[in-house]
Amino acid sequence: MRLSLRFILPLGIALAAIAYAVVPLVDRLALQWFVRDLDDRSAIIARGLNERLVELLRDPAGGSIVGLFERTVRQERVFAIGLCTPQGTLAYASSRFPSQVDCARALALTDDHMVALAEGPLHVEVTPVKSGSARLGSLVVMHDMSFVERRSDESRMYIVYLFAGIVAVVALITVIIAELSWRGWVAGFKALLSGAGSTREDGTTRVPELRPIEADLKALVRDLETERSTRDDSHTVWAPEALRRILREDLKGDEILIVSNREPYLHVRREGNVIDIQRPASGLVTALEPVMRACSGTWIAHGAGSADRDAVDQYDRVMVPPDKPAYRIRRVWLSKEEEQGYYYGFANEGLWPLCHIAHARPVFRAEDWEQYKAVNRRFADVVVDEARSEDPIVLVQDYHFALAPRMIRERLPLATIITFWHIPWPNPEVFGILPWREEVLEGMLGSSILGFHTQFHCNNFFDTVDRLLEARVDRETFTISYGGEPTEVRRYPISIEWPPAALVNQPPVEDCRRRVRERLNLPADALLGVGVDRLDYTKGILERFLAVEHLLETKPQWLGRYSFLQIAAPSRSSLDEYQNLEHRVRAAAQRINGRFGRPGYQPILLLLEHHTAEQVYEIYRAAELCYVSSLHDGMNLVAKEFVAAREDEQGVLLLSQFTGAARELVEALIVNPYDIQQCAAAMDVALSMHPEEQRARMRAMRHLVQEFNVYRWAGRMLIDAARMRHRRRVLSRVRSTRLAPTGTQG
Ligand code: F6P
Repeated sequence: MRLSLRFILPLGIALAAIAYAVVPLVDRLALQWFVRDLDDRSAIIARGLNERLVELLRDPAGGSIVGLFERTVRQERVFAIGLCTPQGTLAYASSRFPSQVDCARALALTDDHMVALAEGPLHVEVTPVKSGSARLGSLVVMHDMSFVERRSDESRMYIVYLFAGIVAVVALITVIIAELSWRGWVAGFKALLSGAGSTREDGTTRVPELRPIEADLKALVRDLETERSTRDDSHTVWAPEALRRILREDLKGDEILIVSNREPYLHVRREGNVIDIQRPASGLVTALEPVMRACSGTWIAHGAGSADRDAVDQYDRVMVPPDKPAYRIRRVWLSKEEEQGYYYGFANEGLWPLCHIAHARPVFRAEDWEQYKAVNRRFADVVVDEARSEDPIVLVQDYHFALAPRMIRERLPLATIITFWHIPWPNPEVFGILPWREEVLEGMLGSSILGFHTQFHCNNFFDTVDRLLEARVDRETFTISYGGEPTEVRRYPISIEWPPAALVNQPPVEDCRRRVRERLNLPADALLGVGVDRLDYTKGILERFLAVEHLLETKPQWLGRYSFLQIAAPSRSSLDEYQNLEHRVRAAAQRINGRFGRPGYQPILLLLEHHTAEQVYEIYRAAELCYVSSLHDGMNLVAKEFVAAREDEQGVLLLSQFTGAARELVEALIVNPYDIQQCAAAMDVALSMHPEEQRARMRAMRHLVQEFNVYRWAGRMLIDAARMRHRRRVLSRVRSTRLAPTGTQG
C-alpha cells in the first residue's frame, strides 16, 4: 500500500492542481459562449420587432408600443425592452426596464454588453430601428444573466467530480499494476537469489526488468555463498585453511602453477661467500607468497638472485620457505640481453609508464618487444614442462606476461588460466599508443579469467578491447569473447595475509617506538611519519617531501619535533628514469634538511636500502603516521600493511586518492598527492588527531583488511576457476553423451 501511495499522492496533487487551473478557464469560456448566444437572441428579437415598431412609430394609433414590449418580455430570460429616440432619450420601455440604465449608458456599452445591477447581471444589446435608410431610434433589449452564474457553479462542480473520478480510476489502476509488478519483482528476485535465473523452462523471461542487474545479483550471491562455504566456523575471517578446503573440495586437488617475473625468495651471495635469503620488496610477492604457502604447487619465476643457481636442484627447482618448505620455485634463467629487453625495456620502460599516469613517457623499442615475446614464450614452455596434468590452474601475474596466457592456451587448451594485472589499466586512448596493442590484448585474452584491482580498470579494459579488437564485449556478464573460449574480466582487489607473518614476533608497540627512535637517534618523544616504497617515480616520494617541507613552513610548531622517515628499496636501478629519481630524491631530502635541520634534528630521514618485512613492520608500529602518496597505483599494499601492523589502533594513514586502496580504506585521510598544501594540512591534522578518533578510524580499517584479506582475494579467483571448470566438464559430458553412438538404435 505504501508503494501505491507513492504513485497516487503525487498523481492526486498534480490532477488537483490541473483542476484548479482549469476551472477559471472554463468559466471564462462558458461566459463568452453565453454572451454570444444572448447577442444572437437579442438580434433576432430586434429584427422581429423592427417592422412593427416602424408602423407603430408612424401611426401611434395602430397600437401600443409598450404593450408590444410587455408581450415580448414574456419570453424566457428577456428582462426588459426599451426604445430610445435618435436624441438618446428613453421613449418607451417595458415595466421592468431598470432606471439605472438610461439610453446614454446602454449606447456606451461596447465589448461584453454586461451591466451588473443589484438584481443581478444583465445583458444589454442595442440595435438600430430603421425604415429604409432612416434611423428612427435604438431598440434596447435586456436579458437576465443570472442563469450564467448558476450554470458556471454547476460546471465547476462537474469538473471537480470529473477530476476526482479520474484520480480514483487512475489510482485504482496504479495500485493494481504496482501490486502485480511488486509481486513479479519479488518473485523474480527470489528466483535469482535461489539460482533459478531469469528465464523459465519454456524460454520466456520471468521479469525482463531485472535483466540488467541479473549478472550483478548472481555475482553477489556467488560471493556470499563462497564466503559462507569457506569461512571456518571458529574463525570469522578467511584463513589458509579456507584456501586448502577450496583446493580439496572444489578443485579436487588440481595443481596450481604461478608464473611471475619476481620470485618470492632470492638467494644472494654476501661477502665471505655467505648466502642470504631475501624476500623482495614487491606487492605481488607480499600477496601471493602466503597463498602459495597454503596451496603448495609450483611458482615459476625469473631466478634473479646472485646465488640462485647454487640453491636449485638439477631441474632448477628449490623448495621454500626455507624454514618450513611448502611449495617449490622453478627458476627460469634469463640472459643479460633477455632481461634488458623484456624486463627493463618493454615491461618497465614501455608498459609500466603506459599504464601509470605518472607523466613518464613510455619508450617502445622493437628489440625489446622481440625479447618480451621470446621470454613470454620461454615461461609458457616452462609452464607446459612443469604441468603434471593437461588442465592445471595457471596463475599468470602482471604486465611482464601479457602474451603468456595465449601461448599457454595453445599448448594446454584445457588449462584454467587466471591472469592478474597488478597495475592500473589505462583508457583506450592511452593504451592505443602502444605499437603492438592488438598482440598484447590478444595475448591477455588467452586467459580464462582476467583480474584487475578495481572496476574502473576492468571498465577501461572493456573499452580498450571494444575499441581495438573485433571481439564480443558483454558488460552484463563481464565476458569478452575473442576467437574461441570466453574470458571473464573481473575485479579482485588484492590484499595482504591476516594476521601478517611479520607481526608474529613483534615486540609491543611501546618497545618498537623506543627501539626505532634509538636507532634513528631521535628523542623518545619525537613524532614520526613514515613512507615505505620501492624507489619508483609512481610513488610520489618527491611530492611527499614537498608536503613535509610545506608543513614545517606553515606550522613551525612541528619543527624539531616531527621527522619523516622514508624507506625506499632500490628498484630497476639500471634505468635512467630510476637513477634520476634517486638523485632527485636525495637532493630534495638534503635541501629540506639544509633548510630546517639543526644539530640533533633532521626533518627527513632517508634510507635507500632493502628492509626485511619484520623491520618494516617494526617501523610501522613506531610511527605516528604513514603517508602513501602514489601518483597512480593499482592497489598499494603498504597502506594495508600499516593498518595490519597497528593492533594498538593508533596511527593515522594518509592515502593518495589515486591508489586502489583508497576505494577501500575510506577512513584514511584521503589526499591528492599533487596538492602539496592539502597534503601538508592533512599531515598537520594527522599529527594533532585525538587518540579516540585515531582508534575509530584504525578500527574500521583493520576490520576491512582483516575481512578482505589475501586469502579471500585468492579464494574468490579459485572459486571462480572451480565454477568454470565444473561448467566445462558438465558441458563436455553433455556433448559426449549426445555424440556417443547409440548402438542397436542405429
Ligand atoms: O606494482 C606492480 C608490481 O609488479 C608489483 O606487483 C610489485 O610490487 C612491483 O611491481 C615490483 O616490481 P619489480 O618486480 O620490478 O621489482
